[in-house]
Parts: sequence; structure tokens; C-alpha cells
Amino acid sequence: MTDDRAPSAPAADGFPPTPGSLDPEALRRRALDALLTARARTATLTDSVEDGELTAQHSPLMSPLVWDLAHIGNQEEQWLLRAVGGRQALRPEIDGLYDAFEHPRSARPSLPLLAPAEARTYASDVRGRALDILEAAPLHEGGRPLERAGFAFGMIAQHEQQHDETMLITHQLRSGPAALTAPAPPDPTDAGSLPGEVLVPAGPFTMGTSAEPWALDNERPAHRREVAAFHLDTSPVTCGAYQRFMADGGYTDPRWWAPEGWDMVREHGLTAPLFWHRDAGQWLRRRFGVTEPVPDDEPVLHVSWYEADAYARWAGRRLPTESEWEKAARHDPATGRSLRYPWGDTDPTPEHANLGQRHLRPARVGAYPAGRAPSGAGQLIGDVWEWTSSDFLPYPGFVAFPYREYSDVFFGPGHKVLRGGSFAVDQVACRGTFRNWDLPVRRQIFSGFRTARDA
Ligand code: AVJ
Ligand code: FE
Repeated sequence: MTDDRAPSAPAADGFPPTPGSLDPEALRRRALDALLTARARTATLTDSVEDGELTAQHSPLMSPLVWDLAHIGNQEEQWLLRAVGGRQALRPEIDGLYDAFEHPRSARPSLPLLAPAEARTYASDVRGRALDILEAAPLHEGGRPLERAGFAFGMIAQHEQQHDETMLITHQLRSGPAALTAPAPPDPTDAGSLPGEVLVPAGPFTMGTSAEPWALDNERPAHRREVAAFHLDTSPVTCGAYQRFMADGGYTDPRWWAPEGWDMVREHGLTAPLFWHRDAGQWLRRRFGVTEPVPDDEPVLHVSWYEADAYARWAGRRLPTESEWEKAARHDPATGRSLRYPWGDTDPTPEHANLGQRHLRPARVGAYPAGRAPSGAGQLIGDVWEWTSSDFLPYPGFVAFPYREYSDVFFGPGHKVLRGGSFAVDQVACRGTFRNWDLPVRRQIFSGFRTARDA
């Protein structure tokens, strides 16, 4: 496979590159670190259960974990070994098995997949070669587009981390005792003193990026957008607030629901977020093999776009548009620039955001004061993916790169955009410009939301 399409040319889109981020040696270290971090997480997710649980299908919504493992290796082989390294295929006969477009998830358990030991060996054989290629790759500006700024290496680290989030969803869907544990996230510092909403004044801002070296095609290019004044919730909607919607008959009143959402409620008999059940007058939830009371002040998780949309209507509000979300997260009125992250241009640290599966739950609202945006909104990055009202559409000037099946084939009214990342996504695949998308019925994902209103 060859490529000759460049990511959109860098433009003045606000932030300067991180110090050293365009230095080839700094990028090489960054790529190595990102690949190693991803593989460590993949190992935890696949070594924490018996082989029988790797080949089992825990839910028809998900692949067997062993499929994700070999698919991670296969994507790395295709892009780093073959496209960048010019190597011959190691196992050309398995490409079709691990092509996500050839086989729906529900059909993957019946494919002649690599067994767990073979899948591990394959992924690690690929990785050994990929690291050799990384060591020698010219990552300078003006090189081949896939190698420039280490893009393909960053893309593959992001791909693996995206599947690590997918595998964590599979862990959440499996039954039986806990296989994974993690410490609790930090406590809120200032929940009581936070205003319920922030005002984002009218005016243009720069959306998307042309400067972030590893931004994926759908985040490009940077462009100006006009946004009318609006109010946005300071924090994501909590389980406690969501229970008030439920207690007020939220799931039984069609007034709050989009027609397709109401159909979904009736067809599946929905009464609460996924993984919740009622016991002795109290709402409980199952979270990675543990049943516990639903915490009032934690962002609500495992709701579909339809549920988020219905809650917002019940509350007399609406979901934010994708542009509103990004403006609240990135626009710095002091300079007129858009920041890489709500707190500035520096990479996330554990003080900024709940990312990377360090904690297996969202932090309560009011945590991460160091992560707040100039707008005053908090917990925009990490904790829960936030549904927006927007369809997943290309930005003006979009160019598919390096393959149409990453973004291009998903554009359209069928998919809604989610922003900000969850506790389950690593920082390499999460930033102020990062765009996720899914079907509006999806609720096994680590999804929550916040609401907005016109000012
Ligand atoms: C961007 C999270 C929707 O998991 O379907 C993984 C990412 N693309 N392999 C997905 C992806 C190809 C994608 N999402
Ligand atoms: Fe994939």
C-alpha cells in the first residue's frame, strides 16, 4: 500500500506546536512511548482473563477480545510494516479476518481466528519489526506524508488505544467476578461553589486543527466558526440529576423523546441507564463485576444519545452543538486562540483529567479544578464521552487520510458526535479537537452528556 495524500497543510490555527513536538527525535521518543503505553494496556486487558474468556463472545455488540488483539496487530502490520516499512506481509491470509468491514462483530466468534497464544505471538512479532522501522524512519517535515512527524506511528498508537477502550467495554459487558480493579478517582474540590452553568459569549473561534501532528483526518483542517452566545453546564449531568428525570416519569412520557428514541424506549422497555437495576427502593449499578449503589454526584454513564436528548428537553434545555462544545473547551478569549486542551497547550497530567483507565469510573463533578477551560467549564476532557446534538460531518476542506474507512464512510446523519473522551481512553487518543461518533442508540459505550441553552 502506498500513499501520496498529505494531511492538510499546516495553517495558523491557534496553538503553536508543543515545545519540541516537530523535532524528529522528540517525535520518535513520543511515538515509542505511545506504542509501549498502548501495548501495556492491551496486555492488562487480555491477560486478566482466562483464554476461554478471550475467545468467548460476551455480547453480540462486541468482538471476542482475541479478535481485537489480532486486529491491533494486523492494523499495525498493514500501516507500519507494509506501508511505512515496505515489508512483505507476514500473514497475508489473515487480513480479511481482521477487516472490520468484512465481518460484523456478531459474526466474529465463528471465524477461524488466531487462538490466544497465536494472536499474542503475532502482535508481538509485528511490534518488534515496527520498532525497528520506527528507529530508522525519517520523521522530518517534507518526508512522506505517513512518516512526517511520525504520523503513522501516532495513528497506530491511537488505534490500539481505541481498541483498548473497546476491550474495556467488553470487560464491562462480561458477567462474573471482577477481572480488573483500579483506585478511585480524586474527590471533588469545589463542587459546592461551582456555578451550574457558564456563559460563552457570541463570536467566532477556530475549530479543528491543522497543526497538531497526530490529529486524525476528521479533526482537520482548522477553520473559523461563528457561534452565538450560549450557556453550558459547568459539569456533566450527574446520576442524581438523571434520577430526578427518571422519578419524574422521564421514561414514560413521549413528550421528551425524539420519535425514534421513544420507539427504542418502548421496544426495549427502557427505564434507566444501561447496567442499572432497582433493588429495595434503591438504584444499583453493575460496574466491572461489582454491584454498588448509584453515586449521586458522578456523571451519568451508559446513556444513549436519545436518552441524553430526552433529559435535556425535560430540563428545558438542549444538547450543545459540536461547535459549542469545542468553543467552550478550547477558545481562550484572552488571546483569541484555540487551545490544545481546556487548560492550555500542555499534555494532560493526572491533575488535569481522568484518562487512560487509571480509574475505572468517572470522577465526581467538581474534581480536576486544574483541568478547567477559560470558559469555566470543567471535566470536558476525560470522565465521560459527551454526546453533542451534531451529526458527524466533515469539516470544510476535509481530505480522507490515510484511509477512507477511518472517518469518511461514517459521515452523515446516522452518527452523532461525542466529545472529550472518557476515563477509558488514553491521552494519545484524546484532545480538544478529537472527534468520536456513534449511533444514537448506543449505550454500552462510556457515554454521558452535559446540556446547554441559548443565551
Ligand atoms: C472512532 C471509536 C468510532 O472504534 O469504531 C477503531 C475507532 N476505527 N478501528 C471505532 C476505530 C478503526 C472507531 N471510533
Ligand atoms: Fe480498528
